[in-house]
Amino acid sequence: MNSLNHVAIIMDGNGRWGLKKKKSRNYGHLKGIRAVESVLKASIKKKIPFLTLYTFSTENWQRPENEINFLFDLIRKSLKKKLKTITKHGIKINVIGKKSRLPNDIKRTIKFIKNKTFKNKKITLNLALNYGSKEEIVNACKK
Ligand code: IPE
Ligand code: MG
Repeated sequence: MNSLNHVAIIMDGNGRWGLKKKKSRNYGHLKGIRAVESVLKASIKKKIPFLTLYTFSTENWQRPENEINFLFDLIRKSLKKKLKTITKHGIKINVIGKKSRLPNDIKRTIKFIKNKTFKNKKITLNLALNYGSKEEIVNACKK
C-alpha cells in the first residue's frame, strides 16, 4: 500500500482547454475523460486505496443548460461504457453528493454500478456529483 491513502482531485480547466484548442468547452469535457482514465490507472499502479474526483459541483448548476446536459450525458455514457473495465480492474465506485437533483436515469445507473462493484478491493473511486464541499463544512461547523 502507498503511504498516500486518499487522493482528491478537483477537475478544472477542461472548458478553457477545449476553447484553447479552437474547439468548444464541451470538447474539453470530452477529452477530460482521458485525464480521468490516466489518473485512475496511475492511482491503481501506485496502490492508492481511495481516489475522489470532483465531477459536478453544486456550483456547476449555474452553467448553461447545454453544458449541463453535455456533462450529464458524458457521465451517463462513460459509466455505462466503462462498467466492464471498472469491474475487471477491481474498482469500487462510490458516489458522494446530493442525489435528489440528479437525473433519474443517472440515479439508477449509480445504484446499479455501486451494487455491481461494492466487493471490489483494488481502489475506491468516489465520484463527487452535485457535491458542495462548502455546504459540508458549514454543516460540520453547526454540529
Ligand atoms: C472541469 O473543468 C470539469 C467540470 C468541473 C465539469 P471546468 O468545467 O471547470 O473548466 P473551466 O475551469 O471552466 O475551464
Ligand atoms: Mg473550472
